[in-house]
Amino acid sequence: MYDLIIQNARLVTFDQDERILDNAALVINQGKIIDILATGSALPKAREIINHSGQLLTPGLIDCHTHLIYGGNRADEFEMRLNGASYEEIANKGGGIRSTVTATRNASLDALYHSAHRRLKQMMQYGTTTCEIKSGYGLDIDTEMKMLKVAQKLNTSKGIDIIPTFLGAHALPPEFDDKDQYIDFIITDMLPVLKKENLAHVVDGFCENIGFSHAQIKRLFTHAKELGFQLKLHAEQLSDQKGAALAAEFNALSADHLEYLALEDIAKMQAANTVAVLLPGAYYFLRETKLPPVTELLNNHVKIAIATDANPGSSPFLSLPLMMNMACTLFRMTPYQAFQATTINAAHALGIQDQKGSIEIGKCADLVLWDCEHYNQIIYDATLNYRKATIKALCSGTCAVG
Ligand code: NIG
Ligand code: FE
Repeated sequence: MYDLIIQNARLVTFDQDERILDNAALVINQGKIIDILATGSALPKAREIINHSGQLLTPGLIDCHTHLIYGGNRADEFEMRLNGASYEEIANKGGGIRSTVTATRNASLDALYHSAHRRLKQMMQYGTTTCEIKSGYGLDIDTEMKMLKVAQKLNTSKGIDIIPTFLGAHALPPEFDDKDQYIDFIITDMLPVLKKENLAHVVDGFCENIGFSHAQIKRLFTHAKELGFQLKLHAEQLSDQKGAALAAEFNALSADHLEYLALEDIAKMQAANTVAVLLPGAYYFLRETKLPPVTELLNNHVKIAIATDANPGSSPFLSLPLMMNMACTLFRMTPYQAFQATTINAAHALGIQDQKGSIEIGKCADLVLWDCEHYNQIIYDATLNYRKATIKALCSGTCAVG
């Protein structure tokens, strides 16, 4: 007796290119996909059977780059930018990330939890079943750990998995005036606490003029890697710092943003299997005009993932269908490529591709049932929200349907 069978479903599996299985049945037990049966097969017995009437069933969406936990908002800076100030000018005057750092330091753990939980619930409405969340608005030990504890608490929410990332090297905190000294502080004081508290397994940084230099990130990565952390990098968002090449040199999981990526660095990403995480929400919201080299990334077989980058400054968006829509309209990706970018490729960007991101026997039963027939409708009609139900593998091995 199995837990659940979803029959009469149109599966987009994402295990091999553009595979669509019509009228298939999916057998689920103890939170795992046990079998995928073709039309007409005899169905085993199950405690619950859902007839999906020929409609679409996909892997749960994976948001592989977010800054979901923060205090305050930056609506005032949005208006300043509309009046001509640039993101960098605002940052250089002490606003930007630094203003969110002040608000986040002043917020209690409970207040941060409640504001982030509200955002998370909205993401789940749009089909997200796994969400990466970065720290990086604390920039001192207590607040960085407070953020990661909020992420840990959010991870107990039903229907979603949270993957925390440590982003201590996001900006220079106000109590430091030397970036090298702050990087030293991260290495000697923050990473050991992080390791001891076991609150994140991935270290990220912001390699940019308003963030940290190539040399500073290299120093951070060297120590983080020695301690066994996996790596990610905000690279080439506003200028070419050779961040993607650095990420590849360290076999990072991903290099993210990449509008200013030089073509010569694409092969390095491919050789290192470093995923290109593109963030069309930030491209749109900062009114960027330089496009990431999407065609060249695709031609060179670099995996492209798409994420919301949900944050108060550069991308206050929570919907992956909307990001897929932007990836198609702004970055000229196909709907299939965009869907792949929020499922299996996003799983690769988090190093969880063995468990999540595709419909395959043995993988977690993280699934979304949609009230439409084709995945291109979800992207085209991005704000209608076709999600009908989410099936989520739980640690206990049972399934939540809702
Ligand atoms: O991914 N670029 C750096 N970090 C974030 C923005 C953070 C902020 O502005 O608060 C990003 O765009
Ligand atoms: Fe980011």
